[in-house]
Amino acid sequence: MKDISSPLLAWYQKNKRDLPWRHTRDPYKIWLCEIIMQQTRVAQGLTYYNRFVETFPTPAALAAATQDQVLKLWQGLGYYSRARNLHAAAKSMHGKFPPTYPGVRALKGVGDYTAAAICSIAYNMPYAVVDGNVYRVLARVFEIATPIDSTEGKKEFAALAQQLLDKKNPGDYNQAIMDFGALICTPQAPQCTACPLAKVCQAHKTGMQENFPVKAQKTKISTRYFHYIYVAQGKDTWLHQRGPGDVWQNLYELPLVETADGKLSLKDPQLKKWFGATRIKPMQTKPIKHVLSHRIIYAYIYKVVVPSARKVPDGFIKIPVKELPRYAVSRLVQKLLEQV
Ligand code: ADE
Repeated sequence: MKDISSPLLAWYQKNKRDLPWRHTRDPYKIWLCEIIMQQTRVAQGLTYYNRFVETFPTPAALAAATQDQVLKLWQGLGYYSRARNLHAAAKSMHGKFPPTYPGVRALKGVGDYTAAAICSIAYNMPYAVVDGNVYRVLARVFEIATPIDSTEGKKEFAALAQQLLDKKNPGDYNQAIMDFGALICTPQAPQCTACPLAKVCQAHKTGMQENFPVKAQKTKISTRYFHYIYVAQGKDTWLHQRGPGDVWQNLYELPLVETADGKLSLKDPQLKKWFGATRIKPMQTKPIKHVLSHRIIYAYIYKVVVPSARKVPDGFIKIPVKELPRYAVSRLVQKLLEQV
């Protein structure tokens, strides 16, 4: 088996990023970091990590918060199930972070990757992480063509990663391969001339590095059309808390009508039910395009001034406009609110 551990660790000692969670062995803080950093750029994640550690320095502090508080602190980071799971997991700890791999793996929102990262970094346990960086580095160095999104691929890469793991320095090794993938062995235009693994890299030998890793399926993207209505009722406005089974669960938003295309009839029965005959005014001609991992949302904003006597429909709350910043909303709703 090729030794990639020594060159990776040597590279890491010289080039590692100086990140706050690299100065602690506190499993709670490492868990926070790992959940926040999933699908997030380091620069953005850093702000949120510092905010969370400061606001909730212990599992007990996080457990004592309300879900709305946690979502509010998470606002803007996306993938909000991470925040809901984080909160549920903190509540399940009863003040103490689990000290074993099975205990960590059983936490809500913690999968194989996160459990391996926490246990190797905080507890020095020999578990190899397999994230997007690891798939890419291993697929290239060993020129593995098994699709990384197949059951077979997942097994093959997990076994290889575990075999290559430096069992004496699992935490450093895991972070080394992830930093190396993020900085040198990048998805596009990898820095092969500066690469400490170039000599042993099979894909580099054949010039095929950009063809690895192999994916079987393209992610399906759906297009949706959201029409948000800003309600002005004296100094108040209406909000709705989103339910389960769709994006942005438990976040707040303006009254929303979804249509199959970009057109909303002002005679729409939903609008009639909420606002009666009151006139609804479009606020812009071009929609805002909001891109998520599996969706493209075209969002339109309208305004309606409703008389103070009008009752708030079921499922909505009426709040003073100046209290809007207290509610956790998606980045999209934030953008729309800035327009009205
Ligand atoms: N991405 C997520 N967690 C990381 C870590 N601990 N080191 C490097 N990259 C990461």
